[in-house]
Amino acid sequence: MVTKMELIEAAITTRKNSYSPYSKFKVGAAILLKNGQIIGGCNIENSSYGLCNCAERTALFTAYAQGFRKEDIAAMAIVADTDGPCSPCGACRQVISELVEKRTPIYLANLKGDTMDTTPEDLLPYAFSGDDL
Ligand code: THU
Repeated sequence: MVTKMELIEAAITTRKNSYSPYSKFKVGAAILLKNGQIIGGCNIENSSYGLCNCAERTALFTAYAQGFRKEDIAAMAIVADTDGPCSPCGACRQVISELVEKRTPIYLANLKGDTMDTTPEDLLPYAFSGDDL
């Protein structure tokens, strides 16, 4: 069984692949699948800044591109070199709310060992969803 700390370690490892020459702010994410597999993601920036992709979305889009869906996801970890546990941006909260089941554990972390456990529904209450369309 993969523990919370092991999943955070996987996010720290993936964070090393961050392509962030503009912000120099490296973020890592790791998704634990119910089959035990871990899928990592990091932020990938672009000189056209609006095209930067966050670590959380890289990881989730990679998992979905491999055919996995929200019911396959057991947990997710997000890590950066922040003072407190790294908090996902608003855009990522919206994507997490659609692609991860609402009570799935999300572990926010930093490099100092601070962690905070949350869920998609706590990160984005009253989310807009496909049900609103
Ligand atoms: N970033 C993430 O990867 N995840 C977040 O939740 C917050 C921000 C990235 C985007 C950009 O490459 C850099 O961090 C600075 O904003």
